Amino acid sequence: MKILIFGRGYLGNRLAEAWKDEAILSDVRITSKEDAFAEFARHQPDVVLNAAGVRGKPNVDWCEDHQLETMRGNAILPMILADACAEAGLYLLHMGSGCIFYGDSAHEDRAWKEEDHGNPDVVYSRAKWAADLVLSTLPNVAIARIRMPIDWVPSLNNMIDKLSTYPKVIDVENSVTIIEDMIDVFHQMLEKKATGIFHVTNPGTMKHRELLDLYHELVDQNHSCEWIHNDELVGQGLAKKGRSNNFLSNTRLAEYGIHMRPVDVALRDTMTKYAEAKKIQVREE
Ligand SMILES: NC(=O)c1ccc[n+]([C@@H]2O[C@H](COP(=O)([O-])OP(=O)(O)OC[C@H]3O[C@@H](n4cnc5c(N)ncnc54)[C@H](OP(=O)(O)O)[C@@H]3O)[C@@H](O)[C@H]2O)c1
Repeated sequence: MKILIFGRGYLGNRLAEAWKDEAILSDVRITSKEDAFAEFARHQPDVVLNAAGVRGKPNVDWCEDHQLETMRGNAILPMILADACAEAGLYLLHMGSGCIFYGDSAHEDRAWKEEDHGNPDVVYSRAKWAADLVLSTLPNVAIARIRMPIDWVPSLNNMIDKLSTYPKVIDVENSVTIIEDMIDVFHQMLEKKATGIFHVTNPGTMKHRELLDLYHELVDQNHSCEWIHNDELVGQGLAKKGRSNNFLSNTRLAEYGIHMRPVDVALRDTMTKYAEAKKIQVREE
């Protein structure tokens, strides 16, 4: 299978490295259908994966004052790619985000289902939800929503690196995505050409405390932080807007015989591998 990936950022690179010869990481900035057609002609892919987007740098608060860039990267770009893929008869897997949901759902278990409508507040999430609304009407497209990537590879984008370096951490519980599992799930989705909306999150939920307890146990026994209430994030000036915290139910993958490890099992395995990777990093420095 030849997989053409758009988006040479954190996750596009992570996927391309994992899939090696099967993947082609496009180096073109897509602003029109013609740009996409030229890439299809150049690489002759079997399937397309959109890992391009605008998340904001240094963080998502940037999007609050850069609405047009956020709209172009997260709403218009996916629509251009979906349009081009439809015309070329190519299957598209688009990376969505679980942060289109804020708080608890109205369901008894408080989790959001794939077919639920988003209730986004911030500029980034609104643009992501706009793409989901439109792309989910198309027949040959999957929207794979992930949340809070947790990876054994150290990186500034990894939740382990982020949480372990914050002096103050909010005490919250969420659905999360273990990146090693996501890579495998995406590959199966591409092979099976799964369509519709999918929550690519590990079954179960994770408290930030659980991640940092494991970090303390397996990576750094000297680690400590101050725990603050979720409301204090904005109150103390640590963020412009409150972050989305939620539980997602992951039910649609099973329709395709695709399963993810329970989050507690996957998190311990990931933290063990992360600790090893950190040791190697320190030895090489
Ligand atoms: N990482 C997360 O925490 C997270 C969580 C949930 C969902 N997601 C979603 O997962 C996807 C990938 O995220 P990521 O973490 O890999 O983001 P990332 O590191 O910011 O990478 C996104 C890449 O897309 C590129 N891009 C933007 N507009 C483009 C265009 N028109 N044509 C081609 N490339 C373009 C960006 O280039 P420039 O930097 O040069 O603009 C950047 O290299 C995004 O859709 C994101 O919304 C990520």
